[in-house]
Amino acid sequence: MHNFEFNWPVKSIVGNGEVKKAGIEAKKLGRRALLVTGRFSVRSSGLLEKVSASLKSAGIDFVLFDGVEPNPRVTTIDKAGALAKKENCDMVIGLGGGSPMDAAKAAALAAVSPSGVSVWDYIFCSKNFRKIDVVPLPVLLIPTLPATGSEGNPTSVITNWDLHQKVHLMDNALFPKTAIIDPELTMSLSREQLAYAGVDIICHLLEPYLTTTGDSYVKDRMAEGVISTVIDLLPKAMQNPSDVESRMNLSWSGTLACSPFRFMAWNGKGFLHWIEHCLSAWTDVPHSEGLSMLLPAWMEYMSRYKFFKYRLDMLGERVFNGSAEEGIERWMKEIGAKTRLDKSAGDKIPEMCGTLITVYAGGKDFVELPSGERMVKGEFEEIYKNALQ
Ligand SMILES: [Fe+2]
Repeated sequence: MHNFEFNWPVKSIVGNGEVKKAGIEAKKLGRRALLVTGRFSVRSSGLLEKVSASLKSAGIDFVLFDGVEPNPRVTTIDKAGALAKKENCDMVIGLGGGSPMDAAKAAALAAVSPSGVSVWDYIFCSKNFRKIDVVPLPVLLIPTLPATGSEGNPTSVITNWDLHQKVHLMDNALFPKTAIIDPELTMSLSREQLAYAGVDIICHLLEPYLTTTGDSYVKDRMAEGVISTVIDLLPKAMQNPSDVESRMNLSWSGTLACSPFRFMAWNGKGFLHWIEHCLSAWTDVPHSEGLSMLLPAWMEYMSRYKFFKYRLDMLGERVFNGSAEEGIERWMKEIGAKTRLDKSAGDKIPEMCGTLITVYAGGKDFVELPSGERMVKGEFEEIYKNALQ
């Protein structure tokens, strides 16, 4: 196992009905909140009303920002930060799926940034790059989607549509203070949303698992346990929407899968999320659907690398009682998730690969695998092209 640091300073409140604590928990962080959500679902499900009532009863004043789109734009986040600043908010609450979660964390930073500084300036590939030298507002997150794990990590994935770049902003300063993970909030998800949520969770685990060199026993066994949980329980939750026990396990699996546990003893780079981010940056496909369309082709291509094949075979033996590639693809088909890239994305492959190299290669024309081998632009093109078939 490789050396590592582990820091997970998030108070996680997990369980059915816990959303009622929104007001009490918010009161521990501030008095006036910017409430960040998407445009529709939290309103139509009645959740916005419920959380508003909880905040009001705890004496928390709030300003609503409900303009977060899928693949949240930097322009949207800057606007949310400016609103928090103008309204003298002293905390931020994120409510909804992965996009409002990510937007809330970044808006908490934008709210305290010097004027004229965009949140994009804190992203590693920005031409105006600057380190975070301010303390973001405290954040409370209430996720409705068991997928992104944003509620448990210090990452915000932000899209700059002008540059066609979708990139992660990651800094320990961005950890939320508190997360309320209430599985009952996932009840309003469609079957399709739930299926893709499961694929996202699996990808958060597969990526580090398959791209680690050598073995790290405790991390491997934890990842295998959570992968098995999702493989087993997601179809059950889809078949029986009121199966709260399955949903509770899925929600917590989603948080764990993208928490600092993901990085424990991971010495590699996986590229699956990178190639998805570049896909979304050019086509605006939702993140988890993009992952789903790329996952089989990514595993198939990467298995030509020995270290990857070794890990893939180990996963197959321990979790799928056979081939991991076949087991995962079979499961994806069972839950109705796409396993091939939409043909319309084919036209943008050169642009997507160009963005990948610009953003992630740090000025070189290749990216290095944990084994020391190099992957060049043409190899990423091949993964996208293979995904089309
Ligand atoms: Fe993801």
